[in-house]
Amino acid sequence: ILVSPASSTRYDDHISFRAINKEEKFHFPKDFLFGTASSAYQYEGAYLTDGKSLSNWDVFTEIPGKIEDGSNGKVAIDHYHRYPGDLDLLKDLGVDSYRFSLSWARILPRGRFGDVNMEGINHYNRVINAVLERGMEPFVTLTHYDIPQELEVRYRSWLSPQIREDFVHYAEICFQYFGDRVKFWTTFNEPNVQVLNSYRTGEYPPSRCSKPFGNCTRGNSDIEPLVAAHNIIRSHLAAVYTYRMKYQEEQRGKIGLVMSANWFEPVSDSLADRLAAERALAFYLTWFLDPVVYGRYPKEMQEILGEDLPEFTKDDLKLSKNGLDYIGINQYTGRYAKDCLHSACEPGKGGSRVEGFVNNHALKDGLALGEPTSISWLNVYPQGMEKVLMYATERYKNIPLYVTENGYGENSTGALLNDHRRIKYMSSYLDALKRAMRKGAHVRGYFTWSLLDNFEWVYGYTLRFGLYHVDFDTLERTPRLSASWYKNFIVKNRAQSK
Ligand code: NOJ
Repeated sequence: ILVSPASSTRYDDHISFRAINKEEKFHFPKDFLFGTASSAYQYEGAYLTDGKSLSNWDVFTEIPGKIEDGSNGKVAIDHYHRYPGDLDLLKDLGVDSYRFSLSWARILPRGRFGDVNMEGINHYNRVINAVLERGMEPFVTLTHYDIPQELEVRYRSWLSPQIREDFVHYAEICFQYFGDRVKFWTTFNEPNVQVLNSYRTGEYPPSRCSKPFGNCTRGNSDIEPLVAAHNIIRSHLAAVYTYRMKYQEEQRGKIGLVMSANWFEPVSDSLADRLAAERALAFYLTWFLDPVVYGRYPKEMQEILGEDLPEFTKDDLKLSKNGLDYIGINQYTGRYAKDCLHSACEPGKGGSRVEGFVNNHALKDGLALGEPTSISWLNVYPQGMEKVLMYATERYKNIPLYVTENGYGENSTGALLNDHRRIKYMSSYLDALKRAMRKGAHVRGYFTWSLLDNFEWVYGYTLRFGLYHVDFDTLERTPRLSASWYKNFIVKNRAQSK
């Protein structure tokens, strides 16, 4: 039988068909990576240890009212000192790979304006070696939101095009010191979430926004996220170009970009709402991926934003042909999208030019998409995993996909060790991932967020995403049921594939 991917009718120019046999048994490919994901600021602590300087998040968390429980990442879960034991837990889980990020402020405390901190380099050399010694593949992110405070102040971080030179300088140092052993590089983690939260709602540093999105007085929410995104895209392209020109042939690694890839479902079958869902994806996901792969912003953005959308120079475009080796998909949830171009939407819930007049918190019969959880932004909608993987496969053809994050968080109830809800969530999302792969999605890996409970940005320590519970006073790690569930899942699925 001939099967068309679920969403193909919406993207006629990207349809791909693949014949599959209904009875075909599913196997993960041999080189498929199962893993867990983390980030430096959320895990490491040791905020001034061994020559590290302050990062923008170290400074930001000091501002009263920014973090729900008034906490910060000064100690976090002390992964900086406890990484050997944490990596033993990962080895015991049987994962193939550990996704983690480097702290820029540990490696270059003053960015381009100072020396390399060899203690930082030595630390990450030890971590990378320890990952490899345990038979796992390091999957390394260069920037997971935190940057040296010095750059934040000089440039208001990503608002200045100059930061591209800093990023390439930093990336090169990482390629030089670690590239002999790191075969998977990510330039940026979720730059879409980062720029929207930093420059539209003001929830992340440098906390710039304007009404109706946030309650701060600095910034211009219409334009600044676009400018910051443009500078991030150009930084990504320049780092990839440098890697390809100077390092890739010898080091033989892959370099990619990780996006928050939540799904948008039209709130009704009307053409207007279906187009609104496409606009929502354009203003969220393909915003970064289209320029990197095709050298242009999605047409929905061009139509709505016109001249406000920054332009790529000829030189940028030279660098941008297939400007990544893989796409990282962070997939947790889905939302309804509702048209606000032709009918009024509730005020305060979208309706800006930046969003393309999409109300992405729309309700259908009073309900949000999927099943609610104890976290306001997290609804359980596994179909979104399948749909977004098919969407990316169709739109970006043969570029491999890694699900670089997927996971279940809970508020205070998440202290429970018998986390049946997490298991149900992971199992349903992994089923959805298998369905997508059966239909031809090029998925090469799955990383769950996260091995351990950790510092969840503006929610501080109030939300827990770990397969292991962490006592935030004693820092003791205790396995939840989901840890053994994931372990068994990997054993079973690996056995089938080998
Ligand atoms: C995505 C982010 O990359 C990560 O830092 C965060 O903790 C998880 N989502 C859960 O919200």
